[in-house]
Amino acid sequence: MTNNENMPIGVFDSGVGGISVLADLIKQMPMEKYIYFGDSKNAPYGTRSLEEVRTLSIRVADSLIADGIKALVVACNTATSGAIAELREVLDIPVVGMEPAVKPAIERPHAGKVAVMATPFTLREKKFNTLISKWAEANEIIKLPCPGLVEIIEAYGGRGQELREYLATLFQQVNLNEISSIVLGCTHYIFIKALITEIVGSSISLVDGNSGTVNQVQRLLRADNLLVNKPYEVAPITEVRMINSSGREELISLSKLLLEERLKELGWIGIIKYIDDCHKMY
Ligand code: DGL
Repeated sequence: MTNNENMPIGVFDSGVGGISVLADLIKQMPMEKYIYFGDSKNAPYGTRSLEEVRTLSIRVADSLIADGIKALVVACNTATSGAIAELREVLDIPVVGMEPAVKPAIERPHAGKVAVMATPFTLREKKFNTLISKWAEANEIIKLPCPGLVEIIEAYGGRGQELREYLATLFQQVNLNEISSIVLGCTHYIFIKALITEIVGSSISLVDGNSGTVNQVQRLLRADNLLVNKPYEVAPITEVRMINSSGREELISLSKLLLEERLKELGWIGIIKYIDDCHKMY
Protein backbone atom coordinates (compact mmCIF):
# COMPACT_ATOMS: atom_id res chain seq x y z
CA MET A 1 0.00 0.00 0.00
CA THR A 2 1.44 3.43 -0.89
CA ASN A 3 1.60 5.72 2.07
CA ASN A 4 -0.72 8.70 1.73
CA GLU A 5 -1.94 11.51 3.96
CA ASN A 6 -5.45 10.08 4.35
CA MET A 7 -4.21 7.00 6.16
CA PRO A 8 -4.37 6.93 9.98
CA ILE A 9 -1.47 7.27 12.39
CA GLY A 10 -0.96 4.11 14.49
CA VAL A 11 -0.27 4.64 18.18
CA PHE A 12 0.72 1.74 20.38
CA ASP A 13 1.39 0.99 24.03
CA SER A 14 1.42 -2.07 26.27
CA GLY A 15 -1.95 -0.84 27.58
CA VAL A 16 -3.74 2.44 28.29
CA GLY A 17 -0.62 4.55 28.99
CA GLY A 18 -0.12 5.68 25.39
CA ILE A 19 -3.57 7.29 25.52
CA SER A 20 -1.76 10.20 27.22
CA VAL A 21 0.36 10.57 24.07
CA LEU A 22 -2.68 10.14 21.81
CA ALA A 23 -4.31 13.09 23.59
CA ASP A 24 -1.30 15.31 22.84
CA LEU A 25 -1.23 14.12 19.22
CA ILE A 26 -4.93 14.97 18.80
CA LYS A 27 -4.47 18.38 20.41
CA GLN A 28 -1.64 19.21 18.00
CA MET A 29 -2.94 17.42 14.88
CA PRO A 30 -6.73 17.14 15.25
CA MET A 31 -7.44 16.55 11.56
CA GLU A 32 -5.44 13.31 11.48
CA LYS A 33 -7.12 9.92 11.94
CA TYR A 34 -5.76 7.61 14.64
CA ILE A 35 -5.74 3.91 15.46
CA TYR A 36 -4.79 3.21 19.07
CA PHE A 37 -3.60 -0.29 19.97
CA GLY A 38 -3.41 -1.14 23.68
CA ASP A 39 -1.78 -4.52 24.27
CA SER A 40 -3.42 -4.83 27.71
CA LYS A 41 -3.49 -8.62 27.52
CA ASN A 42 0.29 -8.63 27.65
CA ALA A 43 0.81 -5.66 30.00
CA PRO A 44 3.01 -5.01 31.79
CA TYR A 45 5.94 -5.06 29.38
CA GLY A 46 8.19 -3.45 31.97
CA THR A 47 8.96 -6.61 33.92
CA ARG A 48 9.51 -8.77 30.81
CA SER A 49 12.71 -9.87 29.05
CA LEU A 50 14.18 -8.00 26.08
CA GLU A 51 13.21 -10.88 23.80
CA GLU A 52 9.58 -10.76 24.93
CA VAL A 53 9.30 -6.96 24.58
CA ARG A 54 10.70 -7.19 21.05
CA THR A 55 8.42 -10.02 19.99
CA LEU A 56 5.30 -8.34 21.41
CA SER A 57 6.14 -4.93 19.92
CA ILE A 58 6.79 -6.33 16.46
CA ARG A 59 3.53 -8.29 16.59
CA VAL A 60 1.51 -5.18 17.42
CA ALA A 61 3.33 -3.13 14.76
CA ASP A 62 2.57 -5.81 12.14
CA SER A 63 -1.09 -5.75 13.08
CA LEU A 64 -1.22 -1.94 12.74
CA ILE A 65 0.60 -2.08 9.40
CA ALA A 66 -2.01 -4.59 8.18
CA ASP A 67 -4.66 -2.00 9.14
CA GLY A 68 -2.95 0.52 6.84
CA ILE A 69 -1.17 3.17 8.93
CA LYS A 70 1.08 5.90 7.51
CA ALA A 71 3.27 6.30 10.63
CA LEU A 72 3.82 4.43 13.89
CA VAL A 73 4.08 6.09 17.30
CA VAL A 74 5.51 3.78 19.93
CA ALA A 75 3.81 5.53 22.86
CA CYS A 76 5.57 3.33 25.38
CA ASN A 77 9.00 4.00 26.87
CA THR A 78 9.52 0.30 27.54
CA ALA A 79 8.76 -0.84 23.98
CA THR A 80 10.90 2.04 22.67
CA SER A 81 13.89 0.95 24.77
CA GLY A 82 13.52 -2.66 23.71
CA ALA A 83 12.37 -2.56 20.12
CA ILE A 84 12.63 0.83 18.37
CA ALA A 85 15.76 -0.07 16.40
CA GLU A 86 14.21 -3.34 15.14
CA LEU A 87 10.94 -1.61 14.27
CA ARG A 88 12.75 1.06 12.26
CA GLU A 89 14.68 -1.65 10.47
CA VAL A 90 11.65 -3.63 9.35
CA LEU A 91 9.09 -0.87 8.72
CA ASP A 92 9.24 1.54 5.82
CA ILE A 93 7.05 4.21 7.41
CA PRO A 94 8.08 6.90 9.94
CA VAL A 95 8.48 5.35 13.42
CA VAL A 96 8.67 7.63 16.47
CA GLY A 97 9.27 6.47 20.04
CA MET A 98 9.44 7.93 23.54
CA GLU A 99 12.43 9.13 25.53
CA PRO A 100 12.38 9.86 29.28
CA ALA A 101 12.64 13.67 29.48
CA VAL A 102 15.89 13.69 31.47
CA LYS A 103 17.49 16.43 29.36
CA PRO A 104 14.72 19.01 29.88
CA ALA A 105 14.67 18.16 33.59
CA ILE A 106 18.43 18.63 33.99
CA GLU A 107 18.42 21.86 32.01
CA ARG A 108 15.81 23.53 34.20
CA PRO A 109 17.15 26.54 36.13
CA HIS A 110 18.31 25.78 39.69
CA ALA A 111 17.96 22.07 39.09
CA GLY A 112 18.72 19.81 42.02
CA LYS A 113 18.64 16.06 41.74
CA VAL A 114 16.40 14.51 39.12
CA ALA A 115 14.44 11.35 39.92
CA VAL A 116 13.26 9.18 37.05
CA MET A 117 10.17 7.03 37.54
CA ALA A 118 9.99 4.28 34.91
CA THR A 119 9.57 0.55 34.51
CA PRO A 120 12.43 -1.69 35.69
CA PHE A 121 13.00 -2.59 32.01
CA THR A 122 13.43 1.02 30.83
CA LEU A 123 15.84 1.87 33.65
CA ARG A 124 18.09 -1.13 33.14
CA GLU A 125 18.23 -1.04 29.32
CA LYS A 126 21.16 0.36 27.37
CA LYS A 127 19.14 3.17 25.76
CA PHE A 128 18.41 4.88 29.09
CA ASN A 129 21.88 4.31 30.50
CA THR A 130 23.47 5.78 27.37
CA LEU A 131 21.13 8.77 27.69
CA ILE A 132 22.10 9.56 31.28
CA SER A 133 25.80 8.92 30.67
CA LYS A 134 25.79 12.11 28.54
CA TRP A 135 25.64 14.16 31.70
CA ALA A 136 28.70 14.25 33.89
CA GLU A 137 26.40 14.67 36.86
CA ALA A 138 24.77 11.29 36.23
CA ASN A 139 25.03 10.70 39.96
CA GLU A 140 22.48 13.49 40.33
CA ILE A 141 19.99 11.23 38.59
CA ILE A 142 18.09 8.87 40.84
CA LYS A 143 16.45 5.83 39.28
CA LEU A 144 13.04 4.99 40.72
CA PRO A 145 11.87 1.71 39.20
CA CYS A 146 8.13 1.19 39.67
CA PRO A 147 7.27 -2.51 39.26
CA GLY A 148 3.54 -3.09 39.69
CA LEU A 149 2.48 0.51 39.05
CA VAL A 150 1.32 -0.06 35.46
CA GLU A 151 -0.96 -2.88 36.66
CA ILE A 152 -2.62 -0.56 39.20
CA ILE A 153 -3.24 2.07 36.53
CA GLU A 154 -4.53 -0.54 34.04
CA ALA A 155 -6.99 -1.75 36.68
CA TYR A 156 -8.38 1.52 37.98
CA GLY A 157 -7.12 4.18 35.59
CA GLY A 158 -5.17 5.69 38.47
CA ARG A 159 -7.89 5.86 41.07
CA GLY A 160 -8.07 4.10 44.41
CA GLN A 161 -6.31 3.63 47.71
CA GLU A 162 -3.85 1.02 46.45
CA LEU A 163 -2.24 3.64 44.22
CA ARG A 164 -1.85 6.16 47.04
CA GLU A 165 -0.17 3.54 49.23
CA TYR A 166 2.12 2.47 46.38
CA LEU A 167 3.32 6.04 45.80
CA ALA A 168 3.74 6.81 49.50
CA THR A 169 6.01 3.75 49.87
CA LEU A 170 7.90 4.58 46.67
CA PHE A 171 8.80 8.12 47.75
CA GLN A 172 9.95 6.95 51.18
CA GLN A 173 13.04 5.60 49.38
CA VAL A 174 14.28 9.10 48.51
CA ASN A 175 15.03 12.39 50.22
CA LEU A 176 12.44 14.62 48.56
CA ASN A 177 14.20 17.76 49.82
CA GLU A 178 17.09 17.27 47.40
CA ILE A 179 14.94 16.53 44.34
CA SER A 180 13.89 19.34 42.01
CA SER A 181 12.16 17.34 39.27
CA ILE A 182 10.65 13.95 38.70
CA VAL A 183 10.73 12.60 35.16
CA LEU A 184 7.69 10.51 34.25
CA GLY A 185 9.46 7.88 32.14
CA CYS A 186 6.39 5.76 31.48
CA THR A 187 3.37 7.01 29.58
CA HIS A 188 0.97 5.46 32.11
CA TYR A 189 2.22 7.79 34.85
CA ILE A 190 0.86 10.93 33.15
CA PHE A 191 -2.58 9.90 34.41
CA ILE A 192 -1.48 10.02 38.05
CA LYS A 193 0.34 13.38 37.91
CA ALA A 194 -2.09 15.08 40.29
CA LEU A 195 -1.69 12.40 42.94
CA ILE A 196 2.10 12.39 42.63
CA THR A 197 2.13 16.18 43.16
CA GLU A 198 -0.17 15.78 46.15
CA ILE A 199 2.31 13.35 47.71
CA VAL A 200 5.66 14.97 46.81
CA GLY A 201 4.55 18.61 46.98
CA SER A 202 4.16 21.24 44.28
CA SER A 203 7.76 22.51 44.53
CA ILE A 204 8.93 19.39 42.64
CA SER A 205 8.24 19.67 38.91
CA LEU A 206 6.95 16.69 36.97
CA VAL A 207 8.40 16.41 33.48
CA ASP A 208 7.28 14.11 30.67
CA GLY A 209 8.51 13.47 27.13
CA ASN A 210 5.20 13.67 25.29
CA SER A 211 5.71 16.98 23.51
CA GLY A 212 9.09 15.89 22.10
CA THR A 213 7.46 12.83 20.56
CA VAL A 214 4.47 14.71 19.18
CA ASN A 215 6.67 17.41 17.60
CA GLN A 216 8.83 14.74 15.99
CA VAL A 217 5.76 12.98 14.52
CA GLN A 218 4.60 16.26 13.03
CA ARG A 219 8.07 17.05 11.64
CA LEU A 220 8.43 13.65 9.96
CA LEU A 221 4.93 13.69 8.47
CA ARG A 222 5.49 17.19 7.13
CA ALA A 223 8.85 16.19 5.63
CA ASP A 224 7.21 13.23 3.83
CA ASN A 225 4.19 15.28 2.70
CA LEU A 226 1.94 13.07 4.82
CA LEU A 227 0.47 15.72 7.10
CA VAL A 228 -3.28 16.36 6.73
CA ASN A 229 -3.72 20.00 5.94
CA LYS A 230 -7.46 20.52 6.20
CA PRO A 231 -8.98 23.46 8.05
CA TYR A 232 -12.00 22.90 10.30
CA GLU A 233 -15.03 24.98 11.07
CA VAL A 234 -15.87 25.84 14.70
CA ALA A 235 -14.39 22.67 16.29
CA PRO A 236 -12.36 19.75 14.95
CA ILE A 237 -13.80 16.24 14.73
CA THR A 238 -11.09 13.61 15.19
CA GLU A 239 -11.57 9.99 14.13
CA VAL A 240 -10.19 7.42 16.57
CA ARG A 241 -10.30 3.63 16.38
CA MET A 242 -9.63 1.87 19.69
CA ILE A 243 -8.16 -1.62 19.59
CA ASN A 244 -7.34 -3.64 22.71
CA SER A 245 -5.89 -7.13 22.97
CA SER A 246 -7.48 -8.03 26.32
CA GLY A 247 -10.90 -8.88 24.91
CA ARG A 248 -12.34 -6.92 27.85
CA GLU A 249 -14.85 -4.20 27.10
CA GLU A 250 -13.85 -2.27 30.23
CA LEU A 251 -10.37 -1.63 28.81
CA ILE A 252 -11.86 0.04 25.73
CA SER A 253 -14.18 2.09 27.98
CA LEU A 254 -11.27 3.04 30.25
CA SER A 255 -9.22 4.08 27.19
CA LYS A 256 -12.01 6.40 26.04
CA LEU A 257 -12.56 7.82 29.51
CA LEU A 258 -8.84 8.54 29.98
CA LEU A 259 -8.62 10.12 26.52
CA GLU A 260 -11.57 12.40 27.11
CA GLU A 261 -10.42 13.43 30.60
CA ARG A 262 -6.91 14.16 29.35
CA LEU A 263 -8.16 16.20 26.37
CA LYS A 264 -10.30 18.23 28.75
CA GLU A 265 -7.27 18.89 30.97
CA LEU A 266 -5.41 20.04 27.86
CA GLY A 267 -8.23 22.49 27.08
CA TRP A 268 -9.15 20.79 23.81
CA ILE A 269 -12.54 21.76 22.40
CA GLY A 270 -13.08 19.23 19.59
CA ILE A 271 -15.19 16.10 19.21
CA ILE A 272 -13.91 12.53 19.11
CA LYS A 273 -15.65 10.27 16.63
CA TYR A 274 -15.00 6.64 17.58
CA ILE A 275 -15.15 4.17 14.72
CA ASP A 276 -14.99 0.36 14.77
CA ASP A 277 -13.72 -0.32 18.31
CA CYS A 278 -12.29 -3.76 18.19
CA HIS A 279 -10.69 -6.52 20.26
CA LYS A 280 -7.74 -8.34 18.76
CA MET A 281 -6.92 -11.45 20.68
CA TYR A 282 -3.71 -13.35 20.32
N1 DGL B 1 3.39 2.80 29.17
C1 DGL B 1 4.51 1.90 29.22
C2 DGL B 1 5.80 2.71 29.25
O1 DGL B 1 5.78 3.87 28.85
C3 DGL B 1 4.31 0.88 30.30
C4 DGL B 1 5.15 -0.33 30.14
C5 DGL B 1 4.65 -1.57 30.84
O2 DGL B 1 3.71 -2.18 30.33
O3 DGL B 1 5.25 -1.96 31.84
O4 DGL B 1 6.84 2.26 29.65
